Amino acid sequence: MEVIIQKDAEMVAKLAANKIMKLVNQRPNCNLGLATGTTPLKLYAELIRCHKELGLDFSKVSSFNLDEYVGLDSNHPGSYHCYMQEHFFKHVNMDKKKTHIPNGMAKNIPIECEAYEAKIKACGGIDLQILGIGHDGHIGFNEPSSSLGSRTRIKTLTELTRKNNACFFKREKEVPYHVITMGIGTILDSKSCLLLAFGESKAQAIADMIEGPVSSMVPASALQFHPHTTVIIDEAAASMLKRKNYYRWVFDNLPHWQA
Ligand code: PGA
Repeated sequence: MEVIIQKDAEMVAKLAANKIMKLVNQRPNCNLGLATGTTPLKLYAELIRCHKELGLDFSKVSSFNLDEYVGLDSNHPGSYHCYMQEHFFKHVNMDKKKTHIPNGMAKNIPIECEAYEAKIKACGGIDLQILGIGHDGHIGFNEPSSSLGSRTRIKTLTELTRKNNACFFKREKEVPYHVITMGIGTILDSKSCLLLAFGESKAQAIADMIEGPVSSMVPASALQFHPHTTVIIDEAAASMLKRKNYYRWVFDNLPHWQA
């Protein structure tokens, strides 16, 4: 796992956007795995800037979102369909036909989940999966105790996650209990993962993910099995890491072939 510590959230977003820009420029038809929540907002703002000011072209890129709430239609302001539209898609030249988000209104959820997995496979798999991390160590909506081999399926949110996501709804009680989420196995199949985190409130989850044992109680710790995961965090999120000086030294002294 490559761990990169940056001064603040702005620097994290800039470095992450640079990595994505490099991939999109090298492989214009790449498949991006997209995340929602508070964490990627600065990253999307930076990617929009790269599109507007530097001509970054998303027209051939395909995207697959990690998750969606069950029971919210795509026009509901709390849905991730709406989030993606507002914070990213409407500002760049993504082809709508190439954007994919699980359908939370599907009549048959197991079939929707199977079809989502099949679509990812048919596109050739996800090249780069963007991830945030929950305070409890979840990735996607894979709450603690999720199977580390899980695939896209329905999950029940914990009260903590519902509370943390209430800022996207008028009232906390509107936050759905159920979601469709890519599984941990689905995420581990991505060719590379890019996990971002800011702030002291994520410090324990980050330390558990990177330096703790692999455990379904910290779903993000499964990324220790992934051969190409980059974690970019600010100083506050890095504050509980025991080996932060080592991670800093590694990043500051990358051999030229790796830089
Ligand atoms: P947040 O959520 O970005 O809103 O903190 C992260 C997550 O749940 O993965």
